[in-house]
Amino acid sequence: MKAHELKGKNFLKLLDFTPEEIQGFIDFAIELKAMKKAGTPHRYCEGKNIVLLFEKDSTRTRCAFEVAGADLGMHPVYLGPSGSQMGKKESIEDTARVLGRMFDGIEYRGFGQDIVEDLAANAGVPVWNGLTNEFHPTQVLADFMTMQEVAGPLKGQKLVFMGDARFNMGDSLMVGCAKMGMHLIACSPKKYWPGQELIDTCQKIAKETGAVIEFSENPFEAVKGANVIYTDVWVSMGEPDEVWQERIDDLTPFRVTADIMEAAGEQCKFMHCLPSFHDVKTTIGKDIYDKFGIDCMEVADDVFESPASIVFEEAENRMHTIKAVMAATL
Ligand code: CP
Ligand code: NVA
Repeated sequence: MKAHELKGKNFLKLLDFTPEEIQGFIDFAIELKAMKKAGTPHRYCEGKNIVLLFEKDSTRTRCAFEVAGADLGMHPVYLGPSGSQMGKKESIEDTARVLGRMFDGIEYRGFGQDIVEDLAANAGVPVWNGLTNEFHPTQVLADFMTMQEVAGPLKGQKLVFMGDARFNMGDSLMVGCAKMGMHLIACSPKKYWPGQELIDTCQKIAKETGAVIEFSENPFEAVKGANVIYTDVWVSMGEPDEVWQERIDDLTPFRVTADIMEAAGEQCKFMHCLPSFHDVKTTIGKDIYDKFGIDCMEVADDVFESPASIVFEEAENRMHTIKAVMAATL
């Protein structure tokens, strides 16, 4: 990827990019990380203004956009779940046309992918997807950057996704693995596999890239030889509390435990987009413990805290990859 070829482009989902472009973002992020560590200034977007629209909560994504924006010499403005007119008194189209006149780039985190696509169609400036129900593409860039740092080239690396594979993380990792010629196994009860249309799209891409996209209901078999076991929360932002019981019943056999890590082999790393329910140090974690008597959900605490866990390297890389996306598209 030559950075100037992506100027003015939106970053809405990985399906919109070629494998070379995705690799380009990752390699650019690795360069930017080295510059930051060396204290080398990289104010490539001096004087620009960006707006960060969050209809859902965030720690990593918001901070990554704000810090990366500041490092690039920009002024970020945050609009949270309440306080702006968007959606309530003003349509997405009108909001986009207003913000596009004031800002050089717009980040959106919220609900349907159609909303971020709609923003992009009307803003006239680059729009970046900071998570929708369907996709979380900046997260996958950070995940793949971390995998490349740990084990080298992505092609052929095996990633097993355990848990709710039909929401933003499962969907985006499947697309990313298909694009980058990797081996993905989505491991969960069948009803948690991604939608058939997206599977078909990814299988088509896989034919061109040499990727292998598979599905399994057998965790101990699926994880053998994996480079990475990846999981995500069982109930995502915006889903109703009523689904907890069903998710716990269905997904407990797919929790990432020490036994699962051992079955994968000692090369295997543990990854999670975070935040994660691995203990009862959160209000929701405590609440679930009181109601259901479990002290962890998608991952056991000893795995989360083990040397195989690279979740905080992964979290740091959110900032470097988001910086690469903004610098390349602005
Ligand atoms: N992984 C991730 O998107 O984290 P936040 O919800 O904290 O942004
Ligand atoms: N699937 C999770 C991802 C959080 C980063 C959610 O949407 O809540």
